Amino acid sequence: MRLDLPPSVLAFGARGPRWQAFVDGLPRLLDDLVAEWELTPTGEVWSGYASVVLPVRRAAGGEAQDAVLKVTFPEDEETEHEPLALQHWHGRGAVLLLRADPHRRAMLLERLHRRDLNALDPLDACEVVAGLYPSLHVPAPPQLRSFTGYLNRWREPLADLPRDAPVPRRMVEQALSLLRDLTGDPASTGTVLHHDLHYQNVLAGEREPWLAIDPQAMSGDPHAEPAPMLWNRWDELVGPGAGDVRTGLRARFHTIVDAAGLDEDRARAWVVVRMVVNAYWSIEDAERLGRLLDADERDWITRCVAVVKAVQD
Ligand SMILES: Nc1ncnc2c1ncn2[C@@H]1O[C@H](COP(=O)(O)OP(=O)(O)O)[C@@H](O)[C@H]1O
Ligand SMILES: [Mg+2]
Repeated sequence: MRLDLPPSVLAFGARGPRWQAFVDGLPRLLDDLVAEWELTPTGEVWSGYASVVLPVRRAAGGEAQDAVLKVTFPEDEETEHEPLALQHWHGRGAVLLLRADPHRRAMLLERLHRRDLNALDPLDACEVVAGLYPSLHVPAPPQLRSFTGYLNRWREPLADLPRDAPVPRRMVEQALSLLRDLTGDPASTGTVLHHDLHYQNVLAGEREPWLAIDPQAMSGDPHAEPAPMLWNRWDELVGPGAGDVRTGLRARFHTIVDAAGLDEDRARAWVVVRMVVNAYWSIEDAERLGRLLDADERDWITRCVAVVKAVQD
């Protein structure tokens, strides 16, 4: 049986030849895994950002169990250690990993509800996420790459950004100086960092009300975790009746810092570093392709700068 891929997955191919090869191989790969792992598909293929997810049933010791089969684009290093982190968490704070084939970037995961933290008010969601931190922020296994090492690769090109780049120069200097300090601090490494812990990567469960999925795990500092809760659900910060963006962002930041008992200055430093590096990546992408920033990229960079300002003044 060949599974049909939805248009959203077929569209991955537009990202380049390697993505097209991933899409082309998916029907066969999913078929093989379904057969080898003795699964029965129970619905359509869903798409994530860099993955496909197939709801399945598996016979586990005679009893049927709902699960999902997730296959990820194999060339992103950020997703490489997803199964390792899930295995390490062992279901605490996160979805249970039932089976994995890291070579094929395939995982069988406990089935959760599709309801994610977008269903809650953003500040309630921030409290939920902060409540997951103690379960997720455990000592890191040695295989995880360090978040500071990962970021330091961009230190030089970031320092070389032209003065007319769309990120204020003093913000770039500040991020570089903070990154240098954080890199020299042993507390910046050694804890499992989910690294992509935002509203859509926390799903409702049966065992627990909310569980994290989709880690881009690295060895890091818990204080580096809040940033994605600030830059996501942006429309609600700027939409009608939203109040001012700065107040909304600060409310999210302080809700997480307070509920998780983080050191405020350290959490702020990590927000600055992550947002400036995020902005840099967009600039670099456009540069690499030899074109000007498009409107979406300019909006994104403006957003990164707004987050840095909001947590500081
Ligand atoms: N264990 C699961 N149970 C139910 N749905 C899931 C599960 N894992 C992922 N999904 C669904 O698939 C989507 C994409 O999965 P995700 O792991 O976030 O991949 P991506 O890296 O592509 O964002 C999620 O937003 C969710 O709707
Ligand atoms: Mg996701």
